[in-house]
Amino acid sequence: MKDYLATIVKNEKIAENVYSITFDLGEKAVVRAGQFGDIAVGGTHLLRRPIAICKVEENLVTYCYQLKGDGTKKLAGLGAGTKVNVLMPLGNGFFVEKDEKKVALVGGGVGIFPLISVLRAYNAEKEINAYMGFRNKSAVCGLDEFQKADRFVAVTDDGSFGEKMNSVQAFVKDLENGYRPDVVLSCGPTPMLRALKKVVEEAGLTCYVSLEERMGCGIGACLVCVCDLTNGEKARVCKDGPVFNAKDVCL
Ligand SMILES: Cc1cc2nc3c(=O)[nH]c(=O)nc-3n(C[C@H](O)[C@H](O)[C@H](O)COP(=O)(O)OP(=O)(O)OC[C@H]3O[C@@H](n4cnc5c(N)ncnc54)[C@H](O)[C@@H]3O)c2cc1C
Ligand code: FES
Repeated sequence: MKDYLATIVKNEKIAENVYSITFDLGEKAVVRAGQFGDIAVGGTHLLRRPIAICKVEENLVTYCYQLKGDGTKKLAGLGAGTKVNVLMPLGNGFFVEKDEKKVALVGGGVGIFPLISVLRAYNAEKEINAYMGFRNKSAVCGLDEFQKADRFVAVTDDGSFGEKMNSVQAFVKDLENGYRPDVVLSCGPTPMLRALKKVVEEAGLTCYVSLEERMGCGIGACLVCVCDLTNGEKARVCKDGPVFNAKDVCL
């Protein structure tokens, strides 16, 4: 982990309310799929914003973010050449075992972005099925990446792009047709993860989920981000996660 003074190379809109920002770190970073960075947006915003790492290409690292509140709006206003502090890589990330050959990615909303990093890391050696859900057609993005998967299903809540369903329902449809992945990796809104947890429990599948929590320090020191584990203990999403075995976390 390092606090880079990174230079913005590109910061552009890729879908309704969604931006892609690429930083030049000045050196190559070693990143595991599913890790995140803590981006300083400056001004009066003391706390950095945690955003999943989407792509790493040599010195360049790309994050995709949805406009939410003041911090992400401020970020969207920063142009090429601006220098920004980016602490990364943070968290544990996704890890696919050697014998896990068939990988299902189930994503929703901004949860699709860390799954792009998984696809890029494992596409050559694994059979990857990607099920991605978007609010509507104008929110659809990342198609150029996900189309590289062995199977890609995009769905929307209103049916304006792909079938009208969520990504968990799209995944279940394939399970019903005999598909059985060795591992399921997921990121998305908590209700979606909760629904997926039920599905994988019933199907007896191994599943890892990446959680989103409000964060303070991002490095395990402040305990702002704790979540409940099924064994009654607590874990820090920033340091012990954000990726957990679905059976270990309360959703
Ligand atoms: C590990 C991780 C990865 C994430 N990856 C992405 C991503 O790839 N793309 C993306 O668009 N968003 C991602 N998020 C959510 C993103 O951090 C928030 O949307 C963002 O911090 C909102 O900041 P804001 O100032 O615009 O909103 P405000 O609501 O004004 O933020 C106020 C404070 O709350 C925190 N906060 C607000 N919402 C969230 C949230 N949902 N999760 C965590 N902290 C929050 C902010 O960091 C800030 O400290 C991720 C969150 C986590 C924890
Ligand atoms: S954000 Fe401080 S411990 Fe996780």
